[in-house]
Amino acid sequence: MGNSFSVPAKTKGEIIVTLVGFGVSLVPAYYIFNTLLKRLDPTDSEKKKSEAIAQKMIERLGICLEEPLSEYELCIASNLVDTNSMVIEWKDIGGLEHIIEEINEVIILPFTRPDLFSSSELLQPPKGVLLYGPPGCGKTMLAKATAKASGARFINLQASALFDKWYGESQKRAEAIFSLAAKLEPTIIFIDEIDAFLRARNTNDHESTAMVKAQFMSLWDGLTTDASHKILIMGATNRPMDVDPAFRRRMPCMLQINLPTESEREKILQVVLRNEDITNKASVVKEMAANCDGLSGSDLKELCRHAALFRVRDYINNEPAAREMVGEANPVLRKMNLQDFKRALEKFRNMSLLSGLFSLEMHTAEDN
Ligand SMILES: Nc1ncnc2c1ncn2[C@@H]1O[C@H](COP(=O)(O)OP(=O)(O)O)[C@@H](O)[C@H]1O
Ligand SMILES: [Mg+2]
Repeated sequence: MGNSFSVPAKTKGEIIVTLVGFGVSLVPAYYIFNTLLKRLDPTDSEKKKSEAIAQKMIERLGICLEEPLSEYELCIASNLVDTNSMVIEWKDIGGLEHIIEEINEVIILPFTRPDLFSSSELLQPPKGVLLYGPPGCGKTMLAKATAKASGARFINLQASALFDKWYGESQKRAEAIFSLAAKLEPTIIFIDEIDAFLRARNTNDHESTAMVKAQFMSLWDGLTTDASHKILIMGATNRPMDVDPAFRRRMPCMLQINLPTESEREKILQVVLRNEDITNKASVVKEMAANCDGLSGSDLKELCRHAALFRVRDYINNEPAAREMVGEANPVLRKMNLQDFKRALEKFRNMSLLSGLFSLEMHTAEDN
């Protein structure tokens, strides 16, 4: 009976040769297909670039990994930041002492002194912190200074690193964010303008985008349930109401960074002008702080920049030859004075009104 199905030896050999031949011909076909696919993928060169950036950053940070990073983790790792090379420190931030104190308690201490928080469940630090408030008030600055002070690895997550146009890739990248953070912990994942990154889900959302968001949230929940992980997500936004409520819930620690008050403006001006030569500096700072109601930290810096430019303008106007003198050794500019700041404020006011981006009147009306 067994013989009825037996194949003649010659035919068997032929079959094997045919199969091997077929198999061998598949190998180049596979490589050709793969190469073609990569050529067709416009993001391929970008991926290679970000992998190279990631490798360089990992070396620079002296990170020793037990197992190599996956392709997706490498893609996310290109968002790593070398906090040692960051220039911003607490001393560069004016007037946000209470926020800095809170950041110290909620974010930094749990990273630097975990022993203080291990005795009770109530002391478990939050896995999400949201900085919110009007633009130009120091949110991004605070995040950078936090990165430096915490000593944690810092991933400045860009939406472009998460969302890939190929179906399924983004989900793998979402997973990679958390697996990479776990490999590097303690880690802070910072998402600036988080309202745009994870905007409230709506019916217009592409289905796969909604799936990525859902997955992101479930991975985030994983952090909350496993207290042993030292990973924190820090978001910043000017538009807290545009942040998906599901994400807002996951950021129980919400820190509001408002427009500065008069005394805060004074402190910001002191910081911004600390290296400037100004006649009667203390009283100039005081007077300007009192006159700049409604200006943000960033507006104040811009105002000071305008004020400083008047010195250069005067120098050039007073010495017409200066305009042509290239590479003059040490041009001596006059000191800044109150008048420069007043003129700058006037100019700033007009410019802001013209551009419609900002108006002193608008802010004051809102405050009242
Ligand atoms: N409290 C502050 N102290 C010193 N400089 C500030 C402060 N707030 C804002 N600035 C200046 O404004 C710039 C923009 O601030 P940023 O942190 O980007 O604002 P936000 O993220 O809230 O929009 C900073 O780089 C800094 O020069
Ligand atoms: Mg910002």
